[in-house]
Amino acid sequence: MTKTNSEKTAAKCGLNEAEVRNALRILRQMPESIRKFAICGGPATDGPWWTNPEPTECYYSTILAVLMKLGLTEKDILEVGCDSGYFVRALLFHGANAVGLDKNKDAVTNVKGLKLLHGQIEDPPEVLRKMQFDAVISKLVFTPDCEPIKLRALESINKLLRPGGYFISQDDPYSSIFTRKDFENTNFEVILHAFKWNFRDYYKDAVYYDEYEYISICRKPGECDRTV
Ligand SMILES: C[S@@+](CC[C@H](N)C(=O)[O-])C[C@H]1O[C@@H](n2cnc3c(N)ncnc32)[C@H](O)[C@@H]1O
Repeated sequence: MTKTNSEKTAAKCGLNEAEVRNALRILRQMPESIRKFAICGGPATDGPWWTNPEPTECYYSTILAVLMKLGLTEKDILEVGCDSGYFVRALLFHGANAVGLDKNKDAVTNVKGLKLLHGQIEDPPEVLRKMQFDAVISKLVFTPDCEPIKLRALESINKLLRPGGYFISQDDPYSSIFTRKDFENTNFEVILHAFKWNFRDYYKDAVYYDEYEYISICRKPGECDRTV
């Protein structure tokens, strides 16, 4: 039987169709005030996910599904490049102790009820250096501009993770910069490093936005007391 695009994508992400659909269902159950930002991105964003109403529906759904699958939704999570914290807010809704970091000071200043820090991941602020996380996530952050700092960023993320913690990163397939070797050279175990290149079909066959992205899931070696 021919697989749908969403089934193929879910399989590439190490998820099954039901897991992605479940994440979507949960996203849709969130209060409107959280949902509209978790799903659609915030007003500070200006990419195609914001201008094209169709694929925005499921923005962040794959990251959420991966976090759910790994049993991390109620753990300590850092989002790098959190913008004004719309997904940090959604993570709090799921019971996470979520912290955001962004180098854009305007985005993180005066956001009520969220722990958002100003700084760059490759040289994290002192307050962040003292913290430890079970997962670090990033979405549409590590573009070619970050090429010069990518290894320092990975080293920093590795330090911020507890042993057994995960780094989950998503990007546009045409602009993602990480290679499998980058992860391995910075002491990560690569669980998944998948590219999807379906941009041609972007407007006509969008089941969910994450169809069109690159995802990597890496693990910091070591034991953790978490049950996955
Ligand atoms: C394209 S936006 C994506 C925002 C959000 N993750 C999303 O998907 O809607 C990229 C964000 O990453 C932030 N950023 C880029 N490089 C960064 C770095 N080295 N450290 C922290 N934040 C960074 C930018 O300021 C910006 O807010």
